[in-house]
Amino acid sequence: MDPLLAVARAYNLGVIEDACEAIGAEYKGRSAGTLSDAAVFAFYPNKQMTTGEGGMILTNHTDWDMLFRSMRNQGRDVFNAWLNHTRLGYNYRLDEMSAAMGLVQIQRIEALLTKRAQVADWYNERLAEIDLIERPHIAPSTTRMSWFVYVVRVRPPASRDDLMQRLAEVGIPSRPYFTPIHLQPFYRDMFGYQPGDFPVTERLGAVSLALPFSGVMTEAQVDYVCEHLQAAILETSAA
Ligand SMILES: Cc1ncc(COP(=O)(O)O)c(C=O)c1O
Repeated sequence: MDPLLAVARAYNLGVIEDACEAIGAEYKGRSAGTLSDAAVFAFYPNKQMTTGEGGMILTNHTDWDMLFRSMRNQGRDVFNAWLNHTRLGYNYRLDEMSAAMGLVQIQRIEALLTKRAQVADWYNERLAEIDLIERPHIAPSTTRMSWFVYVVRVRPPASRDDLMQRLAEVGIPSRPYFTPIHLQPFYRDMFGYQPGDFPVTERLGAVSLALPFSGVMTEAQVDYVCEHLQAAILETSAA
């Protein structure tokens, strides 16, 4: 964030943090979501805390605050003004039931984050023993990690796609994470991107594997995943 903020300052740009996967995380001791002009959080059920769907935007700028409140409320300028639309807005209000769920979840946020960190620790320990699997690196500037997903890199001669297939055969779901944006059909059609345009991104996109991860996983389940991952690596890289 510091280098980004320096560039933004130099060119008089606003910065909006995408903190959707980072609730509770800290960058050099400062909380994700407080580092820039505004920040967004997402509360889909796969996130550290959930409201079912929806999210939240934070800002300390009073004028932005009024703008965001207006835009989410169909462009009404004064909050609750009856059918008086000053700008083109959206219906982006979080509904009451979702907000109620969020209020309860946020009270449990420390416990939710601690449980996820425990699951990540179990993976870190077990995967340290497994050749050809590179565990997640935590940047030194991340003074508190908030675990959202657990993504490893698969080193050759092991193949990410073969491992996914083997894991699926024993009932373990895993996913590529992420397919590079420029290779998504929409971006190819719209901008003409092709394989080879961003080789580093593509290399990483081909070897990144999201393992099953949630705050309700047990140690035995982590063991099960790691044992089968180890077996799959031995089988596929020997073949
Ligand atoms: C980093 C990041 N940004 C943005 C989003 C989008 O969130 P939403 O679909 O709730 O707007 C997500 C959700 O998966 C995310 O992980």
